[in-house]
Amino acid sequence: MGSGRNVAVFGAYGHTGRFVVAELRERGYVPLLLGRDQDKLLALVEAHPGLEARQASVDDPASLDRALNGAAAVINCAGPFATTAAPLVEAALRAGIPYVDVAAEIEANVDTFAHFAERARAAGTVVVPAMAFYGGLGDLLVTTAMGDWTAADEAHIAYGLSSWHPTTGTLASGVVSGQRRSGRRVRYTGGRLEYHDDALPTLEWPFPAPLGPQSVIGEFTMADVVTIPSHLAVPEVRTYMTAKAAADLSAPDASAPAAVDERGRSAQTFVVDVLVRSGDKERRAVAAGQDIYAISAPLAVEAVDRILTGRTRTTGVASAGAVFDAPDFLRALSSHLSLHVPLDTRG
Ligand SMILES: NC(=O)c1ccc[n+]([C@@H]2O[C@H](COP(=O)([O-])OP(=O)(O)OC[C@H]3O[C@@H](n4cnc5c(N)ncnc54)[C@H](OP(=O)(O)O)[C@@H]3O)[C@@H](O)[C@H]2O)c1
Repeated sequence: MGSGRNVAVFGAYGHTGRFVVAELRERGYVPLLLGRDQDKLLALVEAHPGLEARQASVDDPASLDRALNGAAAVINCAGPFATTAAPLVEAALRAGIPYVDVAAEIEANVDTFAHFAERARAAGTVVVPAMAFYGGLGDLLVTTAMGDWTAADEAHIAYGLSSWHPTTGTLASGVVSGQRRSGRRVRYTGGRLEYHDDALPTLEWPFPAPLGPQSVIGEFTMADVVTIPSHLAVPEVRTYMTAKAAADLSAPDASAPAAVDERGRSAQTFVVDVLVRSGDKERRAVAAGQDIYAISAPLAVEAVDRILTGRTRTTGVASAGAVFDAPDFLRALSSHLSLHVPLDTRG
């Protein structure tokens, strides 16, 4: 049996997995290093002497069961999640432990809700998809901005990224999602996902100072269109991306993020500006920080910590805003995020 502090990280040697491993250690957890490639696992152990590595494959359920033995929870950082999420959720359910992933793939996130909601609830466990920069942070901000509103007409999530140097995993996930959509685009309108071929609009988004107004691509649809409507009555959820970062992502010579500090973070900065509208009333919440991959680690690890210490509001498959006390969660990340959230959202 495990100590209750063992947390398995599948895809531990990936770019995001490494941030998650480091964050778990900082928080006093003992990461179990899981992945499909034994050599890459051994190389990671060299950077973390004393940690245990366990090779496991999504094609081999018994290997996943062995890998999760003694783990109190699992964080899945291996994408594309269209391939990895379901086998890992199945293994977590067999082990009776909570599952958290960082998936930013809309269709894979929808699948996790659709396929596992009842079984996870029946098992009394919690499965949290998209517990990362995309999906999780926007949901926490929208939930916080909503305050005592139980419904809103619209939620807008504008991503002000200074640049976007994507990892191999991000690009691979984009390809898989594109294939699943047959090359079509997706948006969330009228209370459902809508696939279309319309050109994406370019507009100006009024980010707060010091970033200020920026050219953004509208309907640059991210995982927030799954996480937010999963628990909030908002029929229009729209996401926007700074045009510069969108261009970086699709550049044929897109380069991987380069570390500029001792924590391995890149120089990329972000502002996530959230606006919810109900009738003629608007509420806003903003978070700013450095490196969208690095920030995903405290988001996922804070989620696991809250689950393992009983600070949850529901069981089953649920997004960050549904499972956790959203304002409290955001406050707990104050050393990683600069926050401007409403002090009073009543009335
Ligand atoms: N929601 C968000 O904001 C957010 C934030 C960060 C990351 N992500 C997502 O997380 C995923 C990983 O990103 P990353 O930046 O860490 O990329 P990365 O550095 O390229 O790492 C990808 C990891 O996934 C593993 N992997 C891929 N397919 C696998 C499979 N079929 N079985 C087992 N392992 C597999 C890779 O292992 P091998 O080396 O053996 O292939 C590697 O460990 C991507 O899907 C990315 O979009 C989302």
